[in-house]
Amino acid sequence: MKIAVFSARSYDRAALTRAASQVPAAQVAFEFFEVHLESRTAVLAEGFDAVCAFVNDSLDATVLERLHGLGLRVVALRCAGYNNVDLGAAARLGLTVVRVPAYSPEAVAEHTVALILALNRKIYRAYNRVREGNFALDGLVGFDLHGKTVGLIGTGKIGAAVARILGPGFGCRLVACDPVPNEVCATLGVKYVRLPELFGQADVISLHSPLLPETLHLINRDALAQMKPGVMLINTSRGALIDTPAVIDALKTGQVGYLGLDVYEEETALFFEDRSSTVIPDDVFARLLTFPNVVVTGHQAFLTREALDRIAQTTLENLVGFFATGRCQNQVS
Ligand code: NAI
Repeated sequence: MKIAVFSARSYDRAALTRAASQVPAAQVAFEFFEVHLESRTAVLAEGFDAVCAFVNDSLDATVLERLHGLGLRVVALRCAGYNNVDLGAAARLGLTVVRVPAYSPEAVAEHTVALILALNRKIYRAYNRVREGNFALDGLVGFDLHGKTVGLIGTGKIGAAVARILGPGFGCRLVACDPVPNEVCATLGVKYVRLPELFGQADVISLHSPLLPETLHLINRDALAQMKPGVMLINTSRGALIDTPAVIDALKTGQVGYLGLDVYEEETALFFEDRSSTVIPDDVFARLLTFPNVVVTGHQAFLTREALDRIAQTTLENLVGFFATGRCQNQVS
């Protein structure tokens, strides 16, 4: 089984190689390409049995048609989300797309809480001050999370893991909005409410719903106006859940008091590369970075050793299963 791995980084290489060494029967041969999968680079998949792609690879109709033309039958996503795949085109071409539906919800949940704490207790500012010998505490006042109301939009695997940390752990009051309420969350005391109620009650709002047509720009000007002044907004889900220019305006007026992002709508053109020697051409993103109460990480919430190993193992199981039976339980098309 020859697999072309796109957008491959050192940590992907290590985890996939480790996983392959534990499945000797599979006789897997990986070739790692650092480049993104896109129409220009799809040709690199020639001679391979499968491609392995990540969140920022493009799997639009053109790319899928090229892969199909090269004789490929399967695309293995080493991520949960598949909003970057044209599923209609995949179905039309008879291309199977498999994914890793769950690897470590805790990894993303813990990063979510890390953003909340970093912003609240201003850890990033304190770190820089102390390194410069500045031990003044002015401007570093935080708030007790204990007793505060946290609003979770989406209480699937990750939202529920956040609820477990913030409810029993920190003593937060939890309200949530999800068309499919989660029984585990109900046992944690999470109160399901309608979105306007959540906006009106929450001191911290954390997004954990997938990107769907109905969740695109869920956090828009109208939603922001319904929130408590000074609300903390956290997004570790998908960038396009937020209308970023609207949030920038809300940061300017203080309506949003803290913003923590691991994802950004236009992240494909920015994230996962070292751009420290180049000018950032995205003015909206550049404006975000000017606020003292904004912390951005570059889509790293999933990045733990445990999650990477789980992703690699499931990706391999998906491909072994597909080539053995022509089907796979983690198929999205
Ligand atoms: P999940 O499928 O277990 O849960 C998603 C939940 O959102 C479900 O309970 C669903 O009913 C709910 N939902 C759907 N539409 C909704 C709406 N309109 N309003 C409120 N809730 C809605 O997914 P999981 O594993 O919890 O992941 C959540 C999201 O986190 C993923 O879709 C993905 O975009 C993102 N993610 C981010 C990562 C990162 O590294 N930053 C890594 C992994 C996932």
